Amino acid sequence: MIRFHNRVKAVFEARNDQEFQAKRDFETYLRFNQMIERYANKQPKILDIGCGMRLPFLMQFTQDGYDITGTEVVATGPRFSLNKYFYSLKHGNFFNIIENLAWDSLLCGRYHKELSKIRGKKIGNSEIRKSKLLLHPPDAINLPNNCVDVIITNSVFEHVKDTMALLIEMNRLLKPNGIVYSQIHLFPSLSGGHNEWAWPQKIKPSNTPPWGHVRVDCDYSPPSGIFLNRLRQQDFIKMFEEIFKIISIENIDREGKNLLTPKILEKIPSYYSKDDLLNRNVAVLMRKPSS
Ligand SMILES: C[S@@+](CC[C@H](N)C(=O)[O-])C[C@H]1O[C@@H](n2cnc3c(N)ncnc32)[C@H](O)[C@@H]1O
Repeated sequence: MIRFHNRVKAVFEARNDQEFQAKRDFETYLRFNQMIERYANKQPKILDIGCGMRLPFLMQFTQDGYDITGTEVVATGPRFSLNKYFYSLKHGNFFNIIENLAWDSLLCGRYHKELSKIRGKKIGNSEIRKSKLLLHPPDAINLPNNCVDVIITNSVFEHVKDTMALLIEMNRLLKPNGIVYSQIHLFPSLSGGHNEWAWPQKIKPSNTPPWGHVRVDCDYSPPSGIFLNRLRQQDFIKMFEEIFKIISIENIDREGKNLLTPKILEKIPSYYSKDDLLNRNVAVLMRKPSS
């Protein structure tokens, strides 16, 4: 109950964060876009797996004329669309109904306004209505084999229960030589517990210990409604390599260097390296072998 209360509180606090969020989503979009322009075929068919509630990349790629489909395991869609509420109701996901209600009524308008300002053109519900969206069970995306040139995922892999099943599904959907660009928010990082430390560059919480989610002297459970598989960068890379050919691995955003004292390090199991603790994100570019 307390964890649920904290989630609701976080939604209210997020009202003032939409400028920051929109700026980050725009910067991430530019990086995804650059990778696609550089590595994919011309006019690629793109899949955004786990496209989320804000639909940040689905909206932007759609507005810029790309052929993109977003997929999700929970209900998402245009602001106040009844379909998404019925979908959550049908699947008994009441938490998702509350999250969507909070998003639609408190945050979505501000987010669209800020993203429009940054992009220099109006973006919002009309782009979501124009976009292609597919809701599906976690490991079975109802699309034919070899149907897309590019798969993108942002902050999805750390939430996936069966990572290998999703990778096998991605391999099935990708055309030979197709590319995957996945950005992962790493669990051992300062913000990786998805708790009050979510944005250490903005807020340094005083009542939650830094790296409390990986320390042996702290209790931790993820916020309610959030699943985290707790994998490290090297665990993901090992699994990716079983299916795809890795082109590049780039760490993005280092955080918490000045907070990682020897006293805290003593409390963290040694299978987490210092890089594991300081790198917020990794972006991995991969290719499906041609045969
Ligand atoms: C942190 S959100 C990121 C959403 C979006 N990509 C973004 O950048 O705003 C993670 C999303 O991954 C979705 N997800 C989790 N497991 C999934 C799976 N097996 N297949 C597709 N999506 C999944 C969740 O429903 C959630 O919306």
